[in-house]
Amino acid sequence: MIEEYKKIIEKKLEEYFDEKLKNPEYGLFKDVIESMKYTTCLGGKRLRGILCLEACGMFSKRYEDAIPCACALEMLHAQSLIHDDLPCMDNDDLRRGKPSNHKVYGEAIATLAGDALISFASQIIIEKTPKTISSDKIVKLLYEYSLAAGAFGIVGGQTADIEAENSTEKISIEHLKFIHKYKTGALFKASLLLGAITGGADEKQLEAIKNFGDKFGLAFQIKDDILDFTSTTEILGKTAGKDENSNKSTYVTIFGLKDAKEKLNNAIADCYDILNSDALKSDVFEKIIKSLEN
Ligand code: IPE
Ligand code: IPE
Ligand code: MG
Ligand code: MG
Ligand code: MG
Repeated sequence: MIEEYKKIIEKKLEEYFDEKLKNPEYGLFKDVIESMKYTTCLGGKRLRGILCLEACGMFSKRYEDAIPCACALEMLHAQSLIHDDLPCMDNDDLRRGKPSNHKVYGEAIATLAGDALISFASQIIIEKTPKTISSDKIVKLLYEYSLAAGAFGIVGGQTADIEAENSTEKISIEHLKFIHKYKTGALFKASLLLGAITGGADEKQLEAIKNFGDKFGLAFQIKDDILDFTSTTEILGKTAGKDENSNKSTYVTIFGLKDAKEKLNNAIADCYDILNSDALKSDVFEKIIKSLEN
């Protein structure tokens, strides 16, 4: 199922961009649309989109209804990567095994492409979600999307991350958890929520999904911190060893590799607990959690 979800997300992303690219009306600013498409369609695991489709299918058996949301979440994710790689942020020249967006299109277009992706994503939710999904639900989808995209989600987390860089004192575990919750967890939580809302989950089920999103986001970012330290640039497709060189506050730079691995195992155990206790049984969720194991 994971492969099927990934294929459909990639096909639809291409379609959504190409529809706009072939419109002669937009010829004068084609560059920014191409730049948006470049990073979004460059590959990646598509985890946010996959989690969204699975969460929808889990409640309605119609995962297809959430395809526009899944693509929108991948667009927002691509935006966060484009801006994260800019020289004024993490300054990384490599993303998904290819030159980062600003290395191809320049910093100005990369910045604009990121901005434009945030609104193109919400535009796609409105334009492409099937008419069988009520306007009430669309409003809820856009609300959760907006929370994740802005100051109370990724932007807030990225701000705290940048401000913790070069911090002279070691930051506390609560502080680090907070950074990870917003810079990474917010988007995972939204991915699951958008799927579950589209699929018609009730309030109790939405609470369980939110809780899972929080825990999964933390586990995912601890793993990303570990991989930055233990893996290679070739395997990651982004510059390895960057966190230590840039004086980033991460689970590895603050606690060391051994402790970071232990904390990852605890976060993974929390994820399994929620799936079991809150009746969110899913082979797809389990496989994705398993991919984080050491
Ligand atoms: C990278 O996310 C950004 C983080 C939140 C650590 P992914 O590791 O999911 O990146 P892609 O989508 O597979 O390239
Ligand atoms: C990811 O943090 C958070 C984002 C919003 C992109 P990182 O800075 O660790 O992500 P990578 O390692 O560059 O993918
Ligand atoms: Mg970063
Ligand atoms: Mg980075
Ligand atoms: Mg990282």
